[in-house]
Amino acid sequence: MLLKELLYVLICTSISSAWGALPVTVYYEALCSDSVQFITKQLYPNYRFFKDHLDIEFVPYGKAMHTFNATSGKYKFSCQHGREECLGNQLHACALKQIKDKDTKINFITCVMSAENPSGRYFIEECSKKYNIDFIKLITCGVSDEGSKLLASNGDKTWNLEPNLYYVPTVVFNNSIQINQEDQRNSLSNFKMTMCKKILVESERPEVCNEIGLLERMRSFFSFR
Ligand SMILES: *[C@@H]1O[C@H](CO)[C@@H](O)[C@H](O)[C@H]1NC(C)=O
Ligand SMILES: *[C@@H]1O[C@H](CO)[C@@H](O)[C@H](O)[C@H]1NC(C)=O
Repeated sequence: MLLKELLYVLICTSISSAWGALPVTVYYEALCSDSVQFITKQLYPNYRFFKDHLDIEFVPYGKAMHTFNATSGKYKFSCQHGREECLGNQLHACALKQIKDKDTKINFITCVMSAENPSGRYFIEECSKKYNIDFIKLITCGVSDEGSKLLASNGDKTWNLEPNLYYVPTVVFNNSIQINQEDQRNSLSNFKMTMCKKILVESERPEVCNEIGLLERMRSFFSFR
């Protein structure tokens, strides 16, 4: 029994490390309905199929700006959907820093993005409880310079993209700083198929890639170009 389990672990570990995990970076913002849509309807429902092949990095910031005031030593942010969104993004950034486990990361972000108000302190606290995340620690970071620094660093990463980010969310593969418009379009419309195509080694593709049915193939013929 024990030996069998050990073998299972060994085999599965070697299988998942053979192809490795593809880095996927999701640039999003808390109060953006397209971000909610992508995370809750594309990324999360397909995560279970691809979790061994995915290394997701969430970058909450979006279409925002920040400046550093050297006199006060503080950052100033302005966000697409106002101050509340900046605070929300900052709380998300703190949570993402705090959570180490990758399943918990996506579960938490999906929980918050599914909430009535993804920036709202109440909803973030509820999701923290659900996933055993220390909310006191989270909020302490979220309202302090630590949180501002994390958000500013997300901002630098976002502003580093080429061309500049103009659509939120933006999805980038392989840690590239180039936005690939085709990857972007395909990810938003059909993340499952995009991942299946990205996993170049056929034997590494999860079962679900073989199950893409006729309907989906027909649909993709018209929209997936
Ligand atoms: C920078 O911070 C200082 C000290 O708080 C303040 O007096 C000044 O107006 C700030 N500058 C800008 C450009 O906001
Ligand atoms: C990711 O980058 C690596 C190294 O540059 C490359 O070999 C691989 O094909 C890339 N994968 C995808 C899916 O773009």
